[in-house]
Amino acid sequence: MGVLVRSAARQLCCAARAVIPCTWRGKYFSSGDEPAENNRVTPMLRHLMYKIKSTGPITVAEYMKEVLTNPAKGYYMHRDMLGEKGDFITSPEISQIFGELLGIWFISEWMAAGKSAAFQLVELGPGRGTLMGDILRVFSQLGSVLKNCDISIHLVEVSQNLSDLQASTLTEAKIPLERNAESPVYMKGVSKSGLPISWYRDLQDVPKGYSFFLAHEFFDVLPVHKFQKTPQGWREILIDIDPQVSDNLRFVLAPCVTPAEAFLQHDETRDHVEVCPDAGVIIQELSERITLTGGAALIADYGHDGTKTDTFRGFCGHKLHDVLTAPGTADLTADVDFSYLRRMAQGKVASLGPIEQQVFLKNMGIDVRLKVLLDKSDEPSVRQQLLHGYDMLMNPQKMGERFLFFALLPHQRLHGRSHQINACQSKPSASPVAGFAELAWQ
Ligand SMILES: C[S@@+](CC[C@H](N)C(=O)[O-])C[C@H]1O[C@@H](n2cnc3c(N)ncnc32)[C@H](O)[C@@H]1O
Repeated sequence: MGVLVRSAARQLCCAARAVIPCTWRGKYFSSGDEPAENNRVTPMLRHLMYKIKSTGPITVAEYMKEVLTNPAKGYYMHRDMLGEKGDFITSPEISQIFGELLGIWFISEWMAAGKSAAFQLVELGPGRGTLMGDILRVFSQLGSVLKNCDISIHLVEVSQNLSDLQASTLTEAKIPLERNAESPVYMKGVSKSGLPISWYRDLQDVPKGYSFFLAHEFFDVLPVHKFQKTPQGWREILIDIDPQVSDNLRFVLAPCVTPAEAFLQHDETRDHVEVCPDAGVIIQELSERITLTGGAALIADYGHDGTKTDTFRGFCGHKLHDVLTAPGTADLTADVDFSYLRRMAQGKVASLGPIEQQVFLKNMGIDVRLKVLLDKSDEPSVRQQLLHGYDMLMNPQKMGERFLFFALLPHQRLHGRSHQINACQSKPSASPVAGFAELAWQ
């Protein structure tokens, strides 16, 4: 497999696309001190105030869910938040090399697992479809490797607006999309290279079958519950109407124990914790599917290994934004707790990582791929963009250390090892998993 990774990074065709100088969301700050905006009484704020007046303070998880994915007013439902004119930028939008190397990762894992006759590639939260577009270009370019393999694409996306954008990135305009808003498969199309693509709102609706799963900057938008340790024990942080300032929300502590406290670890040593039950449900579903039918999951996001405390934050127009101000106009996010994901997978599948993005991409051959693209390009602006993109992805002060890669694999893929392995601590296995093990690059 190392041979595939080494040769593929050199062989792929060479066109380079533009890089946009924007803010990435892995930036960290503690919420609460940012200046308020002028138009802060948004339809979402009115909706939330009405809800709180009717039923009392809401959890941070409920707030995040409403603000981001409420079908009528949710942040993700009606806009393109990515790129220069949006609120933030992500790795696949920064450099095509990112998606190309992930495409090679999936082919490498498909080969390592015995080249099944068919597989589904399932992406959770595909944004503009840029990452999937880069992966599918690699699949086409390495068509001789994948020939005779029956591949289908499955996109899990709550936003109709973004799924339309994904369709325009990925499908051929000549072939009309099939739409059925009532069906769990709400849209179907055919990729530019002729692969069937289906859209779902929920992972549960994706057909069971041999699958590779991808989630890039997806888990960080799932709703988190927040808890504070108090002299009375753990108390959940809730969101209430501020009685002092009109049209304002504020954080309060729940007066007594709330149901979500069940998600806290008994031996928790931090004094402030964020837990994401939805992430646990998704990891368990992925693990069950991988155990049942084989395949793998690759998860990349900013996060920590069970060490951080208050990471809930907002982004608007490439700036950090107070999470309680003008809800619905800004993205909300919290760092992914990879130790929680690992716990949720434990016993069913093996996990690798989390490892830093700069290590993963280096192991996948980003330097070789960059050199090939630079050698083939005479245009100074393109060369500058390629170098800028590389720096954004790899620089430890930028995205290189903050973004982490994590994988779920069947135990047998790691040669009968029956326990989860942290890649930082493990000995190299006989058949290394690309990206998580160093390959000899010449
Ligand atoms: C931060 S964007 C990341 C986009 C893309 N993966 C990238 O890296 O450029 C989050 C994506 O997840 C989608 N999303 C958010 N919550 C979701 C949910 N509960 N189920 C499915 N998709 C969701 C959003 O609409 C968006 O496509």
